[in-house]
Amino acid sequence: MNKYVVVLAAGKGTRMKSKFYKVLHKVCGKTMVEHVVAAAKATQPAKIVTIVGSGAEDVKEVLAGQSEFAFQKEQLGTADAVQTAGQALADLDGDTLVVTGDTPLFTGETFNHLFAYHAEKGNAATVLTAEAPNPFGYGRIIRDEQGNVLRIVEEKDAKPEEKKIKEINTGVFVFNNKLLFEALKHVNNDNAQGEYYLTDVLEILREEGQRVGAYKMPDFSESLGVNDRIALAKATKIMQRRINEEHMRNGVSFIDPDTAYIDSDVKIGNDTVIEGGVVIKGKTVIGKNCLITTGSRIEDSQLGDHVTVTSSTLQEAEMDDNTDIGPNSHLRPKAVIRKGAHVGNFVEIKKAEIGENTKVGHLTYIGDATLGKDVNVGCGVIFSNYDGVKKFHSYVGDKAFVGAGATIINPINVADHSFIAADSTITKDVKRYEMAIARGRQVNKEDYWHKLPLAQDKDWQ
Ligand code: UD1
Ligand code: CA
Repeated sequence: MNKYVVVLAAGKGTRMKSKFYKVLHKVCGKTMVEHVVAAAKATQPAKIVTIVGSGAEDVKEVLAGQSEFAFQKEQLGTADAVQTAGQALADLDGDTLVVTGDTPLFTGETFNHLFAYHAEKGNAATVLTAEAPNPFGYGRIIRDEQGNVLRIVEEKDAKPEEKKIKEINTGVFVFNNKLLFEALKHVNNDNAQGEYYLTDVLEILREEGQRVGAYKMPDFSESLGVNDRIALAKATKIMQRRINEEHMRNGVSFIDPDTAYIDSDVKIGNDTVIEGGVVIKGKTVIGKNCLITTGSRIEDSQLGDHVTVTSSTLQEAEMDDNTDIGPNSHLRPKAVIRKGAHVGNFVEIKKAEIGENTKVGHLTYIGDATLGKDVNVGCGVIFSNYDGVKKFHSYVGDKAFVGAGATIINPINVADHSFIAADSTITKDVKRYEMAIARGRQVNKEDYWHKLPLAQDKDWQ
C-alpha cells in the first residue's frame, strides 16, 4: 500500500509574536516542520506534500529536497488546506497521513502505529487521538455507546456536554487517499468559525457507509501543538529529555540531564560524560570517553575520543583524540587542535591549526596561524594577524619555542627547532636553530632610589 503525507503549514502563527513564520521556530536546533517531516519520513511515504501559505519561500528553503509543496492562497481552514494538495495526490491509490506542522514531538513510531492500525481495521479514515488532561481548545471525539467514532466537534462548536469529553483530536489522520479527496468536496463552512474543517471528513465518510475509527495514543505530550512561546518552551523541554535519554541508552553519562541542552542532530560516543549546564548545538560530533564540563558551549564542532572541554566555547572547531581545552577558552571557526595538543585557560584560537602535542597553556591569542608538532607557546603570546584592513597568516615549525609574552606580527615564518625569547616582538622570519630576541634592553641605574619622588615620603625611607 502506497503511503503519502500531507503536512499542514500555511498558518501564520500570530500568537508567536514573531517576524518568523511559526513552523520555522526551532525545537532543539531544528525547525518544527523539519521535526514533523523527519517523523513522517520514518513511514517511508512515496510523497510528502507540505501546504505553505504566507512565508512560503522560507519554508520551501528549509524543506528543499525533502517535500513537494502546495500553495494555499487564503487560510480557509484545514480541509481547504488539504485540498490544495489535490493536484499532487488526488488520483493516487494508497493511504495518506495528514499532520500539522506545529506538532514537533510526534515520532515516526506513532505514525507507523497509526498506519498499521488503519490498515488492520480496514478503515477509510482513522484519527489519532489522545486523552488530554485539559482538553480546552482541541476538537473532541464523539463516540456512540458502542465506542464507534461518530464525528469530531471543535471547541467553538461544542455543546457543554461535549466540552467535558477528554479524548481529543491530535490533528493527525490517516485516510484512504482517494476517498479523502472525494469527501473534501462535500465539506462546508457552516460552523462557528466559518472555516472548512478537515475534521468534518470523518462524518462525511461515515455517512457514506465507510469505516471510520480512532487510534488512541498513550502519551498525550507527544501531540503537543505549539501556538505560542510557552508551548515552544514546553516542547523544547520534552524534546530535550527525549534526546538526552536516547544518548543515555547509547552509553553517555549525564550528571544532570535537566540542564544539558543538546540539539537533535548531535552525536556523542559512549562513556562520554556531560556535566550540567552544557549546551551542544548544530552538527556537533563528540567521540568516546570525553568530558564536557559545566559552562561549555559547543557548536558545529568535531571532537575525537578522550577529549576534555572544561567550561569553554567552541564554534566550528575541531579537536582530535586526546586533546583538552579550558577552563574559559574559546575556539572560533576553523580552529583545529591536533592529537595530544593541550589548550589551557583563557586562550582564543581562530582559523589556526595547533599541531600534535603542541602546548598553548595560558592567556594567548592565536589567529591565522599554523603551528607544527611539539611547539611550546608560552603565557600571553599574541599572533597579531590584522593590520586593520587585511588578515595575514604565520607558520611555526615543529619543536619551536615561543617565549612568554611574545607578539608575532603576521605574516612570519618561524622555522622548526627555533627559539623566540620571552617578550619579543617578532617582525622578521626566524630560521632553524636561531634564537630571536627583540625587546628593549634592561638598564639598571645605581643609587636611583633617593631621586624618586616617593623616597621623599618618610614612610618609604
Ligand atoms: C485543529 C483541529 C482540532 C485539533 C487541533 C489539534 C480542525 C478544524 N481542527 O485545530 O480538531 O484538536 O488541530 O492541534 O482541523 N492550517 C493551514 N491552513 C488553514 C488552516 C490551518 O495550513 O487554512 C494549518 C495551520 O498552519 C496549522 C494546522 O493547519 O499547522 C492546524 O490549524 P489550526 O488553526 O492551528 O487548528 P486548531 O484550531 O489548532
Ligand atoms: Ca493548532
